[in-house]
Amino acid sequence: MASLMLSGAENTKLINSIVPSGLGSVSLNFHKKCFLRKNAVSYGNKYRTINLTPRCSVSSTRPSSQPRFIQHKKEAFWFYRFLSIVYDHIINPGHWTEDMREEALEPADLYDRNMRVVDVGGGTGFTTLGIVKHVDAKNVTILDQSPHQLAKAKKKEALKECKIIEGDAEDLPFPTDYADRYVSAGRFLSIVYDNMLNFGPWTEDMREEALEPVDLYDRNMRVVDVGGGTGFSTLGIVKHVDAKNVTIIDQSPHQLAKAKKKEPLKECTIIEGDAENLPFPTDYADRYVSAGSIEYWPDPQRGIKEAYRVLKIGGKACLIGPVHPTFWLSQFFADMWMLFPKEEEYIQWFKNAGFKDVKLKRIGPKWYRGVRRHGLIMGCSVTGVKPLSGDSPLQLGPKVEDLEKPVNPLVFLSRLILGAIAATYYTILPIYMWIKDQIVPKGRPI
Ligand SMILES: C[S@@+](CC[C@H](N)C(=O)[O-])C[C@H]1O[C@@H](n2cnc3c(N)ncnc32)[C@H](O)[C@@H]1O
Repeated sequence: MASLMLSGAENTKLINSIVPSGLGSVSLNFHKKCFLRKNAVSYGNKYRTINLTPRCSVSSTRPSSQPRFIQHKKEAFWFYRFLSIVYDHIINPGHWTEDMREEALEPADLYDRNMRVVDVGGGTGFTTLGIVKHVDAKNVTILDQSPHQLAKAKKKEALKECKIIEGDAEDLPFPTDYADRYVSAGRFLSIVYDNMLNFGPWTEDMREEALEPVDLYDRNMRVVDVGGGTGFSTLGIVKHVDAKNVTIIDQSPHQLAKAKKKEPLKECTIIEGDAENLPFPTDYADRYVSAGSIEYWPDPQRGIKEAYRVLKIGGKACLIGPVHPTFWLSQFFADMWMLFPKEEEYIQWFKNAGFKDVKLKRIGPKWYRGVRRHGLIMGCSVTGVKPLSGDSPLQLGPKVEDLEKPVNPLVFLSRLILGAIAATYYTILPIYMWIKDQIVPKGRPI
């Protein structure tokens, strides 16, 4: 099956128009920021259809010749046990820039210079510098538990008139009804923190682009977000659908703990579970979304078959995931880390599961200028519509991965470490691409 897909990839051509529907071709809307016009992919000849009827009766697994160290449930669990600690800061990544600070403070509505403001966990006063642009410094109190951080704040000219005190955010030394505004970057602002980060492999812009094809036009739709993690994609979903209709499911309780803390997600149902064995009845949801999770599934075809099963007739699945690199070094690290499927593999899996109207939209950070040779952690958004009610027509054999089987702790640890090293390459790559984008004149390829 893998070789059939590879030969499909070799025949892939870009053409300059949307292929007419009914030809069975795959329409592909390129990311509008990276490409100047809409294009389409046809497999083989522009006017030839390809036969994408289900060909496998057993579950397709990754070739054993490729290591992919973090594509097992136990490894994914432990990988996220640690990654969840820094996830919002590195993966939906970034830094806390002045622009971001201004944007974050805007909803605090600091419209009067006489407002009394407390900046809790104010540290070195970075956020306070944003506050005192709108409010007189003498009305602002910075509170932090670290005298060392506060010593830095004290040195800042613009904060000279602020009250600067040591204290505990959970036991504030202020009387009841004391302040007009309470600000805490890293507490309340953490809600918008990963929303506004504009640097990394999975940005808010990309999320909006990727979710656009899922067509969330009704607030009453029932949506499941599979592999929802810390809720970054769910934050995009609840803009369009009432949170009470959204279920986030993930195998990592640590990731979910972060999602639970997010204010806009507080009405979502948040449950632990496995993408390849969803705890929902058949014909349950209007929309299935899964962003950046498929790469950890030991058996992606099984996960997509589950997507089909849980959707109602006419329901739509949207799977956002990585694309395989073509550059040798990126390919090496990608293959070592986890599953980076090829575009045609995604489409094949969707068709195999029984989906109709399968489309693949390319996404990517805007500073990549459309470059795809290094692969992308979030490279495409694939959608398909469930044409009939009931289970998927695809028959699969029993699950290959046996979670009960004992593992050799040394082998397990080595896999985890090697996988994490390979993942590091993919945190450096976007920085390299970003620097290239800054250096190479606009309009030139990078
Ligand atoms: C890269 S994070 C993506 C999180 C979120 N969707 C986002 O857009 O930020 C991948 C998530 O998939 C989860 N995951 C991996 N394998 C899974 C499986 N078999 N079933 C459910 N969740 C899984 C991980 O625990 C992790 O939280």
